[in-house]
Amino acid sequence: IMSLLRFGSVLLLFGCSLGAPRSFSVDYKNDCFRKDGEEFRYISGSIHYSRIPRVYWKDRLLKMYMAGLNALQMYIPWSFHEESPGRYNFSGDRDLGHFLQVAQDVGLLVILRPGPYICAEWDMGGLPAWLLNKKDIVLRTSDPDYLAAVDRWMGKLLSLMKPYLYQNGGPIITVQVENEYGSYFACDINYLRHLYKLFRSHLGNDVVLFTTDGPGISYIKCGTIKEVYATVDFGPGVDVTAAFEAQRQAEPHGPLVNSELYTGWLDHWGSPHFVLSSAIVAKALDKVLATGANVNMYMFIGGTTFGYWNGANDPYSPQPTSYDFDAPLTEAGDLTEKYFAIREVIRMYRKIPEGPVPPSTPKYAYGTVVMKKLQTISDALEKLSFSGPVKSEYPQTFIELNQAFGFVLYRTALPVDCSAPTPLSSPLNGVHDRAYVSVNGVAVGILERDKAITVNVTGKAGSQVDILVESMGRINYGHNINDFKGLVTNMTLGNETLKGWTMYSLNIDEAIRQGLLSETKPTASPQPAALSPPTFYKGSFIIPDCIPDLPQDTYIQLPKWRKGQIWINGFNLGRYWPSRGPQVTLFVPANILSTAAPNNVTVLELEEAPCSSGPCSVVFTATPILNATVQSDHKQHGRLFVRDGFL
Ligand SMILES: *[C@@H]1O[C@H](CO)[C@@H](O)[C@H](O)[C@H]1NC(C)=O
Ligand SMILES: *[C@@H]1O[C@H](CO)[C@@H](O)[C@H](O)[C@H]1NC(C)=O
Ligand SMILES: *[C@@H]1O[C@H](CO)[C@@H](O)[C@H](O)[C@H]1NC(C)=O
Ligand SMILES: *[C@@H]1O[C@H](CO)[C@@H](O)[C@H](O)[C@H]1NC(C)=O
Ligand SMILES: *[C@@H]1O[C@H](CO)[C@@H](O)[C@H](O)[C@H]1NC(C)=O
Ligand SMILES: *[C@@H]1O[C@H](CO)[C@@H](O)[C@H](O)[C@H]1NC(C)=O
Repeated sequence: IMSLLRFGSVLLLFGCSLGAPRSFSVDYKNDCFRKDGEEFRYISGSIHYSRIPRVYWKDRLLKMYMAGLNALQMYIPWSFHEESPGRYNFSGDRDLGHFLQVAQDVGLLVILRPGPYICAEWDMGGLPAWLLNKKDIVLRTSDPDYLAAVDRWMGKLLSLMKPYLYQNGGPIITVQVENEYGSYFACDINYLRHLYKLFRSHLGNDVVLFTTDGPGISYIKCGTIKEVYATVDFGPGVDVTAAFEAQRQAEPHGPLVNSELYTGWLDHWGSPHFVLSSAIVAKALDKVLATGANVNMYMFIGGTTFGYWNGANDPYSPQPTSYDFDAPLTEAGDLTEKYFAIREVIRMYRKIPEGPVPPSTPKYAYGTVVMKKLQTISDALEKLSFSGPVKSEYPQTFIELNQAFGFVLYRTALPVDCSAPTPLSSPLNGVHDRAYVSVNGVAVGILERDKAITVNVTGKAGSQVDILVESMGRINYGHNINDFKGLVTNMTLGNETLKGWTMYSLNIDEAIRQGLLSETKPTASPQPAALSPPTFYKGSFIIPDCIPDLPQDTYIQLPKWRKGQIWINGFNLGRYWPSRGPQVTLFVPANILSTAAPNNVTVLELEEAPCSSGPCSVVFTATPILNATVQSDHKQHGRLFVRDGFL
């Protein structure tokens, strides 16, 4: 209801801008866009509101405006707004209407990309995991159950968006239908036609609808329909003339548009941090602008994939928490050399706004925080599993257990004595995505999708086997986006299928918010172990309110910690995995910190905390590290500058 009111008041506000009617259209005769009758070209940048705290939206948008951009391009992640069917959230950091309002206040037009699928290195490409309740659903096609869910969501979303269309007084000039559909195996043109009719029925006939695809005949063939304006996307290094010729195959006339000119690239855990020089980006931008084309730079600011929202590529390769992207504005919104290089290029084509560029926000090194050990997951099960255990003969997936993200604990018992090491296996590679195995509370090993399908266990018949399974993010691109989580196939012990499971769906975030986890009584000094069962740690630090301008942004670093999840004052910052890299620090925005009470840091360490031989700590520093050496165990994914399917 709050969000409806807010949308309502925006409508009134827009209603005041009387005068000449506002219009935005494609001019096929003169190969350009036309805004209020005048020839118009956009120079835009991508920003994802879902990766930036609301308090920083204005700062980031102002910096984009001051770089000389006249538009922004944005995705809407469906899963961010409809976490369970029919329950919508458009408030706080998800207040899409407010974001559009700020964009308009700042002076930026909006190129809207509402999906339903967006890719975007977002869990399942933005599709909500609950779509997988129908096991054999064919996503992104005319599958009737998929379409029914899309129709309901788009009915809600597009009616909220309608008042924000340019014609109706708002900032939205164009709306993208689907996303790089030509790269998807299904090539279901009836699905695109369905979306076209759906978008028209909610948004009317005046708005410019468009598609985006790679600059190749096969992409254009499966990604475009004649009713929707076709654009292309390509990075530096691609032949600009050839790429726009591909667009001309679909659109012999009308404006040239590169919907994604890459300013950098995404990272994966275990692959080197990607960097792309300012000079290359500036030159590529200049080449595109010199053709008279419209352009959107992807990303202008990448931001942070907080919580569990990151996606993964296929073969399974999850993305880290930072979505810095080596973009012109850093993850934290800081100005870079690339920002100013781009600004200088834009200046050759368009008047740059006068006045100062908003400065980078200051960062503060709060220093070291000592961490105390709390309970292990297995010890705290009753506090973490609000819905209680579920029993079944064979393991169930996250979705069957009605859980979308995070962790599920699978418990069973050894059916026989294993006096000699006996292989506990997922023979069909069904651990999605990583599992921490313990027997009678002692950690015995880690299973990982595509990488490790067996651990050896010993123990008497009846020993308790706990397998904590972590979802590390659903595949967001390609054939396999219907990515089920948990133990998705049977586990075996020796040659026997394990049976008799008790499964605990965990709501760790809620337990932390409610402060339910308690300390453990220190036992006789624990032996340093190679591996410990997944365990919580907690520390706190005070930010004095006598120091002016605090709290400020900061970065948290976890020296010698291995892998886990981290919360500050109940806010889920994301995953850390410095032992694999390349990301070492996590961005901590000032808005989650407090001067009124001690700040609480909660860490779930999944492998081994550096606390066995004395106190352990985390450190708040003023500089990010995103490019540490990686424990490189697989090749760099992504064929940069060829055809960039990933985005
Ligand atoms: C909606 O999302 C905001 C921002 O993430 C969050 O603070 C709020 O608790 C959510 N509301 C509900 C009802 O879940
Ligand atoms: C399990 O133990 C067997 C026999 O000791 C050994 O050959 C094998 O490498 C071990 N497997 C793992 C995954 O440790
Ligand atoms: C597990 O094994 C049982 C018995 O063979 C079988 O019925 C079931 O389908 C299997 N489960 C999965 C997910 O493969
Ligand atoms: C399973 O393994 C046991 C010994 O570990 C062996 O006695 C038995 O024959 C095996 N069964 C099958 C079906 O391979
Ligand atoms: C941190 O936890 C303490 C104890 O539970 C609580 O009193 C305090 O308000 C928390 N701090 C913040 C900033 O929420
Ligand atoms: C990481 O980036 C910093 C800052 O750009 C640079 O000084 C450093 O040399 C880089 N380190 C590695 C290992 O690439």
